[in-house]
Amino acid sequence: MPKITVVGAGNVGAQCVYRLAQMGFEDLVLIDIVEGLPQGKALDMMQAGAVEGFNAKIKGTNDYEDTQNSDVVVITAGLARKPGMSRDDLIAKNSEILSSIVKNIVEQSPNTILIIVTNPLDAMTYLAYKVSGLSPNKVIGMAPVLDSARMQYFISEMTGSSVKNIHAEVLGSHGDLMVPVPNLSTIDKRPITEKMTQKQIDNIVERTKNGGAEIVKHLKTGSAYYAPGSSAATMAEAIVKDSKKIVGTCAYLNGEYGLKDVYVGVPAKLGKNGVEEIIELKLTPDEQKALNASADAVKKLCEKLTVRK
Ligand code: NAI
Ligand code: 2OP
Repeated sequence: MPKITVVGAGNVGAQCVYRLAQMGFEDLVLIDIVEGLPQGKALDMMQAGAVEGFNAKIKGTNDYEDTQNSDVVVITAGLARKPGMSRDDLIAKNSEILSSIVKNIVEQSPNTILIIVTNPLDAMTYLAYKVSGLSPNKVIGMAPVLDSARMQYFISEMTGSSVKNIHAEVLGSHGDLMVPVPNLSTIDKRPITEKMTQKQIDNIVERTKNGGAEIVKHLKTGSAYYAPGSSAATMAEAIVKDSKKIVGTCAYLNGEYGLKDVYVGVPAKLGKNGVEEIIELKLTPDEQKALNASADAVKKLCEKLTVRK
């Protein structure tokens, strides 16, 4: 049975570990800096297992030794956005938090695969890669799967089609320069342009780019967590089951899409080695330009990072 650790027992981390328990994973660890928080949530979830019929052992802890030999570690610890804050505002504080966590994790699990959730996502994933010393295929970020899910939902809401029959492609950074790609998005396997007007498509693209902010505006005291937690759980599942599923992933590019030494969202085949293949889609010149701009913005942000190994 694979061992999966989730760091951060806040909104996203709790949803992620709960979803993993519902999926049938039994060896789970939930760790946080706040004493009592992961222990209390883990106990509550295991009692929910008695209602729902899952047998997960979720170890709530503040001690990194409990995370030893994890196959996958999802890192959600850090500050979340408040209204008016951009993801980039979080960079200084979350860099410190993430660096110390990554060091502790890799010390206990030198062969693990890291899934980063902490914002600003693309820069934090790059930082985790640098601090961890792991190969880049073993350090990935969660966001494109979430951004695609949001676009999928918005298309479904607008057209009345089931989300199950909608594919939405979103590339690039998890930020203002995110690249939703209507040309590669489909309803019932047919281009969305056959079922939606250009005005509707433009609306969906904008709403997807602002998908996180829309929820922050409603919640006022934090950001989204149900879809983010489930998205991270889906990525962990693909890795530990070695499913080779293609999942929108914040992945390290080394020449793919003409980009180098940068983490951005692309479709990637996930399996026991983390990213096993980056899927290169055929983009129009405008789409490629948008992806380049997105990658440039991530690189600029990464220049502000201090990597302390
Ligand atoms: P939250 O505030 O509910 O939970 C964060 C948790 O991290 C807290 O329980 C806190 O005690 C813990 N923490 C802080 N420092 C720690 C440390 N050094 N070690 C261990 N735990 C520590 O926040 P939420 O909503 O769970 O969001 C977490 C992060 O995920 C934020 O940075 C947020 O912006 C990001 N996020 C990213 C998404 C994405 O698509 N990549 C989507 C949603 C959130
Ligand atoms: C989101 O997109 C805040 O990045 C987080 O919900």
